[in-house]
Amino acid sequence: MRYGSFDDVRREYVIEDVSCPQPMTNYLGTQRMGAVISHQAGGYSWLDTPEYGRITRFRPNSLPTDGPGHWVYLRDDEDGQYWSVSWQPAGGEDPSGYRCRHGLSYSVFEAARHGIEASQILFIPREKEHFPDPVEVMDVRVKNVSKRIREISVYGYVEFSFHHIEFDNQNFQMSLYCAGSLWEQNAVVCDLHYEDGEFEFFTTDQPADGFEGTRDAFIGPYRTERNPIGIERGDLTGTTELGGNPVGAIRRKLILQPGEEQRILFFLGRGDGAAANAAVKRYGFEQCDRAMAELRRFWDEKLGSLQVSVPHANMGRSLNIWNLYQAEINVLFSRFSSFIEVGGRTGLGYRDTAQDAMCIPGAEPEGCRNRLVQLLHGQVSAGYGLHLFDPAWFEERKEAQDSKSPTVVPVFSQSRIHGIADACADDHLWLIPAIVEYVRETGESAFLDEIIPFADGGTGTVWEHMKRGLDFSYSQVGAHGITKGLRADWNDCLNLGGGESAMVAFLLVWATGHFLDAARNTGRIEDAEKYEPLMKQMKETCQRELWDGKWFLRGYTADGRPIGSQHAAEGKMHLESAAWAVVSGTADPKQALSTLDAVEEWLYTPYGLMLNAPSFTRRDDGVGFISRVYPGIKENGVIFSHPNPWAWVAECMTGNGSRAMKYYDALLPENQNDKMEIRQAEPYTYCQFIMGRDHTAFGRARHPFMTGSAGWAYYAATRYMLGIRPEFHSLTVDPCIPAAWDGFTAIRKWRGAEYRITVENPNHVEKGTAILEVDGA
Ligand code: GLC
Repeated sequence: MRYGSFDDVRREYVIEDVSCPQPMTNYLGTQRMGAVISHQAGGYSWLDTPEYGRITRFRPNSLPTDGPGHWVYLRDDEDGQYWSVSWQPAGGEDPSGYRCRHGLSYSVFEAARHGIEASQILFIPREKEHFPDPVEVMDVRVKNVSKRIREISVYGYVEFSFHHIEFDNQNFQMSLYCAGSLWEQNAVVCDLHYEDGEFEFFTTDQPADGFEGTRDAFIGPYRTERNPIGIERGDLTGTTELGGNPVGAIRRKLILQPGEEQRILFFLGRGDGAAANAAVKRYGFEQCDRAMAELRRFWDEKLGSLQVSVPHANMGRSLNIWNLYQAEINVLFSRFSSFIEVGGRTGLGYRDTAQDAMCIPGAEPEGCRNRLVQLLHGQVSAGYGLHLFDPAWFEERKEAQDSKSPTVVPVFSQSRIHGIADACADDHLWLIPAIVEYVRETGESAFLDEIIPFADGGTGTVWEHMKRGLDFSYSQVGAHGITKGLRADWNDCLNLGGGESAMVAFLLVWATGHFLDAARNTGRIEDAEKYEPLMKQMKETCQRELWDGKWFLRGYTADGRPIGSQHAAEGKMHLESAAWAVVSGTADPKQALSTLDAVEEWLYTPYGLMLNAPSFTRRDDGVGFISRVYPGIKENGVIFSHPNPWAWVAECMTGNGSRAMKYYDALLPENQNDKMEIRQAEPYTYCQFIMGRDHTAFGRARHPFMTGSAGWAYYAATRYMLGIRPEFHSLTVDPCIPAAWDGFTAIRKWRGAEYRITVENPNHVEKGTAILEVDGA
């Protein structure tokens, strides 16, 4: 069953049946201001940080699950009927006549009801540097398609939030008494009285025909956003109050001739009435159109870094549009703004951000570099990364200060530098290939000499930071000589402490491989000579201690029990260790084949590869939290999307293009557009996980957009399946594709040149290059 379709020309996903099982989300904003918005225009926005800079309110895990929203209501002033431009909140039981189009950093809501066609575009213009204060635009069009003159009122509505969402969600004796609403210069202004000079505004481009500044006045007692008294009565009272729950509700009355369309703009932004007025002056119709065109150009340019033409429509659609879009959003908003992570945390998850940055330096060199610098700064001198930190701590570099307001944004203090007990074994290891990929992409090898402070004091060049990371991991080995799992390895729910993680050992080998490539290509031969033997030794140890006859173990518990053995009853086979044994080059060809065959046998499902099987059912704290999660959910026996592409890479490295494609196809969201009764999530973004075979909801996807699978799917598909990989001094083209493919073409921009690549496969092989022609010769 499907609810929508892809419009590739406009690069939109069009939700034709808006009654889909779950809200489908999109992200607005490409710079400081952001919003996560559902196809019902539910969701919230923020400036700089969703935790401390929240603009609109969200009621997490509530009903409806995506509210409140950035909504527009319409009212027929002759008969009093009213409805919203998105189906929720006031579209009644029947969803017909409603549609939503999610585009790249904008969403459009459409309603055809009662002889009126209306649309609402939500977007955040990209601001030029001399306009430092971003605004969100609600661009509304209302057309009379009936045969008589119509009197229609249009209401824009948002509910403001306290800046600091912990207070907003929990401490009402603060939030209700030190923020309120004002009416200034045709704007409802949310007065954040507790912060000096902080205001937010909601305004419109022409004089308002009424407004409300309090939720009580607009919605009314014992009502919800479905039936606000202010709209039902047809009269707004102009109430504002110092305190309470501030909202912005603004009415505009229209008289529409048959066939006539009128356009109204609403703006949401930071500042008082004067700022609202400035926003109105800045954005007339023409400027809004220009800002939308600019947004399109911005995405054209990003997506233009690689465009492919492959004999697989959904793969092409994904790589050319949605997969890269999702990966970019992760780099941009890394990563706590969604309906699941409701903006309650700030900063960067070390491993996630490093992987995000590793995967798309081609499209996003500046953003990735910026993330790398932040991560380098979040690395302690002992080599590991601060698992979750806010780059702002270091930018400010001052001790926590007394604040007059409860909106304290934590600043740097030594106590934030966590010790090894809270270190994850993998965090810093992702940073090494991420740096190397950045240099391969941009050619900026001087980056390796840049001096960056460590989180706990002292400085080092980027290269020294990388060495500290390797040194840390090579020294953190357990009883078998395998790297320790520490608080967690990549798998948050595998908490091995002093036990050992095969995944980290393989990752260390892989990271060292990238490091050696960089060392050799930048004349650091001594370092190559130092670390190569360490890598070889780690490989040998893995061979000796982890090979289990058919595949490699996942590791050892601290008390020496093997995890992921073929002889175990549960948690027998694990995807991470299987894939990384091959990707790292540790497995020999026979072992690689045997391991990858076992992956297919034990882990393959039509929705992707499961993380482990069979699921753990008995609690075992020696293995970790994984055994306390229900079978088939989260990390326990689930199709966790993020490691799936690791298996595609492994298959490509062993020349098995059809199996890589089989796995790619199973996970590809676009392939599930007509299985939405099962998937129940956006078919245009990878989700963090899909319920596994051991769960009754097998196939249901959860947690869209914010997942490492976006970057990794893009990385694996473009660099290994299509095989287009930048190296230090050349561009490799080494595809591994299904034998049935006749070939493909791609346009790849790299270091200022455009490479037009044509791959022909007349002999229908899966890998290997017989003839290479450059510039026709
Ligand atoms: C979540 C976390 C990520 C972790 C993964 C597996 O996606 O954000 O850091 O690697 O879960 O546990």
